[in-house]
Amino acid sequence: MNLMKWGLLILLFPILSVAKAKVEDGYFAVKTKHLDSFRATYQSVSVKELKRDGGYSLVRLNNQQIMQITTHIHQLEHNCGGLIDLSVDVKAKRLSIFSVFDSFMDVPAIPEKAFTLDDKAKVLEVVNHLSKTEYEKTLRAFTSFPNRYANGANGYEAAYWLRDTALKYANDLGRKDVKATAFETPRYQQPSILITVPGTKPSLPGVLIGGHMDSYSGNKPAVDDDASGTIAAMETLRAILASGKRFERNIFIAFYAAEEWGLHGSKVMANEFKRQNIQLEGIMQLDMIAYSQKTNKHFTFVRDFTNDGLTNFTKTLAMEYLNTPEDKIGDTVCGYGCSDHASWHRNGYRAVTPFEAHFDGMNDDLHTSRDTMALADIDHAFRFVQLGTAFVSELANPQ
Ligand code: BES
Ligand code: ZN
Repeated sequence: MNLMKWGLLILLFPILSVAKAKVEDGYFAVKTKHLDSFRATYQSVSVKELKRDGGYSLVRLNNQQIMQITTHIHQLEHNCGGLIDLSVDVKAKRLSIFSVFDSFMDVPAIPEKAFTLDDKAKVLEVVNHLSKTEYEKTLRAFTSFPNRYANGANGYEAAYWLRDTALKYANDLGRKDVKATAFETPRYQQPSILITVPGTKPSLPGVLIGGHMDSYSGNKPAVDDDASGTIAAMETLRAILASGKRFERNIFIAFYAAEEWGLHGSKVMANEFKRQNIQLEGIMQLDMIAYSQKTNKHFTFVRDFTNDGLTNFTKTLAMEYLNTPEDKIGDTVCGYGCSDHASWHRNGYRAVTPFEAHFDGMNDDLHTSRDTMALADIDHAFRFVQLGTAFVSELANPQ
């Protein structure tokens, strides 16, 4: 081996050493009907079931089984279905897996709160700093990673690409107060990334917007699910900083790791916010905002594991700031905690999830290598970028 190759190996060593897979088993909640059908189909795979109750089963899975069972559920349920990682709660809440499972079905009742729209001119100033071209450019750059699988080197590098992109926006404007934090995920190489834009009254509850950075698995760009939402949050950050405005409340931009494996990364983050008693006015989840082929709506709101008051308020923001006609706004339900908003909702935070279409008209090619730019409608996605930016700006009290 010549000197250059040795040099390359030494340079690559830190990357290769983080690329080794973490192999710890995890505990998950899965619908009992899905477990039964999985077992009937894959009789040679033995899955340990510890308890069943209320239509859900508590199972212990290794990484290979997680992949097999989610693939099976996806086949049954048109690429969706839900498998929730409970191991995160065992660690964070220092509870036994059985009490975590028992409380899994008890979704908290969050008291309603009245939200008011009172900063129109200032919010529009921020929204006007958004750029559709910039959104598309960043989306193309982010989706040029071969994949963003949470337990691989690409997924790890994609996380730090997001952190570096966000910090570059801040540094270019001399905003040394903007901070990035990596949240390690216990079972995956990919960390979640949290960007904090400190407010002038940091003791007030903050505002958070985010999407999940990881891709389901394999060699695919995962444009709609969920580069579209991740980069929407990034473009919101860019506009907020470019506007030069200061806000009273802390603004958090969250890029979640390992959502596809049971909302893992967002659970770690939401549990940590709760543990530190960090309060939030509301959170917006953006997961799949770019597919418009089977909808005539501009926004369709996910109504389970989200907050009604915050959802209705966000609909008014669409009508006020984007002039969205009321008949272009719809509702849908997932039937399970289908994305990271459920991690926040279960911790008692108010969440809103504007989604690309009714569940029946969503992108059926999610989780496949057909989820590419070819299916992305940038005009559709950009409305969500505007809505997300209006949401953050309005709630954070621009000055
Ligand atoms: N983006 C998908 C599903 C989705 C559908 C999100 C509708 C928001 C609205 C998401 O990444 C996903 O695949 N979720 C899993 C469930 C999760 C608990 C692992 C799914 O639907 O199987
Ligand atoms: Zn997704």
